[in-house]
Amino acid sequence: MKIALGSDHAGYVLKEAIKNYFTEKKIEYKDFGTFKLDSCDYPEYSYKVSSAVAAGEADLGILVCGTGIGMCITANKIKGIRAAQAYDPEMAQMSRLHNDANVLCLGGRILSDEEGIKVVEAFLSTSFEGGRHQNRLNLISQLTGL
Ligand code: RB5
Repeated sequence: MKIALGSDHAGYVLKEAIKNYFTEKKIEYKDFGTFKLDSCDYPEYSYKVSSAVAAGEADLGILVCGTGIGMCITANKIKGIRAAQAYDPEMAQMSRLHNDANVLCLGGRILSDEEGIKVVEAFLSTSFEGGRHQNRLNLISQLTGL
């Protein structure tokens, strides 16, 4: 499994903690930046990560900004992306089970590194249930063209 990772300045510290976790667990990832703490614009990184997931260059994406909100708004404008904000492991789990979320959005100013990694663990270890939930995802695509 390959993960596309990205953050703005407000998510940089949590992104680095997630990278350390991935290295420790031998999970393959590609970091799309930002690579420093200087103020920058979240849409750029959300677009890069989401485009990589939509193109099949990564299986899943993880985005971190201050709240996760801006990353999530941007990601969900890209065809094929189902981005979910999660503030705890249960939300991350449900986003996979019912929504087949392929991008997880986290708040670096909301979650500690430890809390964020627990949310990531739940996201990566849960699979989509399909069935009636697939019908609902089909309806999203049908209604929105995305
Ligand atoms: C940056 O200050 C902050 O607005 C950004 O990281 C994010 O939280 C936006 O949704």
